[in-house]
Amino acid sequence: MSQLPLSQKISVAVTVNGVQRAADCEYRTTLGDFLRHELGLTGTHYGCEHGVCGACTIHLNDEPVRSCLMFAYQANGKELKTVEGLSSDKELTDLQAAFKKHHALQCGFCTPGFLMTSAKFLIDNPNPTETQVREAISGNICRCTGYKGIVEAILDVAYQRRKLGA
Ligand code: FES
Ligand code: FES
Repeated sequence: MSQLPLSQKISVAVTVNGVQRAADCEYRTTLGDFLRHELGLTGTHYGCEHGVCGACTIHLNDEPVRSCLMFAYQANGKELKTVEGLSSDKELTDLQAAFKKHHALQCGFCTPGFLMTSAKFLIDNPNPTETQVREAISGNICRCTGYKGIVEAILDVAYQRRKLGA
């Protein structure tokens, strides 16, 4: 069976937050490490590094993925969004503002993952129940706040968007 030359370099080109970026990395470089160390996008956090905590969640072709569970070369040619790309200007998004309002973060380490998970969830589920929200974020771990404020923030955004007809 042939094996990948894991320590050899490969060039990876992606579109991140609407910008085309390319850099060299090793075959064994994970996507999260590529974003953080080669592209300088340190908003994506690494906690467990084996797919459990959800801190490293980003969007790949508009779907949430755990960037610690993929090699960077597997994302070659794909569209990525990281937490830095949620807001296109200096203002917080409604979701980010709701996390602030509902005290949904303390140290903030888990927050990028929660934001990326819930941003996509709210697109797919504009009128969620609390149970659905709790299920949606069940793959993200927070060691600080408990989940009450996070759930309230997500439900609040859904409510406000419906009210605004957004
Ligand atoms: S760092 Fe990827 S799931 Fe924990
Ligand atoms: S706010 Fe600290 S881990 Fe969630």
